[in-house]
Amino acid sequence: MVEHYNLFRGLHILAVIAWMAGLLYLPRLYVYHCRAMPGGELDHTLQEMEAKLLGIIMTPASIAVLLLGLSLIWIDAQIRGWGFLLKPWMVVKLSGVVLLFGWHGFLSAARRKFASGANQRSERFWRMSNEIPFLLAIGMVLSVTTKFGG
Ligand code: HEM
Repeated sequence: MVEHYNLFRGLHILAVIAWMAGLLYLPRLYVYHCRAMPGGELDHTLQEMEAKLLGIIMTPASIAVLLLGLSLIWIDAQIRGWGFLLKPWMVVKLSGVVLLFGWHGFLSAARRKFASGANQRSERFWRMSNEIPFLLAIGMVLSVTTKFGG
């Protein structure tokens, strides 16, 4: 497995790209959904798009990111021991991971609310919230690439 480290790293990054694309696009659909009349054609179309984006792309990609990330942790540990898990860069990375999964769960709950016509959040809220996953990604990517603090 150790010899496949670079392959796993590449697959991890590809899965991250797919997950991030969904995390950035879904709130945009919610912006349009706020303008749709409940029960109307646009409402139905957006419900279907949101369900597919989450079910076919985002959730499977998030699972792939997690499984490949855990594999990288396991391989890293074989090479340099488990101590790296407590290094500042890894703590920041893993904290970002927890927050990103939390944000995924929040978006998923919001989809169910839109589907039952119970969304109460504004178009402005969804437009602004687009920044959250990208800000988290900046922290996570730079922490693994710089490995600051050792
Ligand atoms: C879901 C749980 C995740 C786990 C367990 C995880 C774990 C890891 C590990 C152990 C590495 C190798 C670090 C090293 O160079 O020693 C890595 C690399 C990387 N991770 Fe993650 N990761 C996760 C999610 C993410 C997310 C959400 C992003 C971006 C938003 C991300 C971006 C990256 C990048 C860009 C690299 C490559 C760094 C490099 O080649 O220098 N990871 N990840």
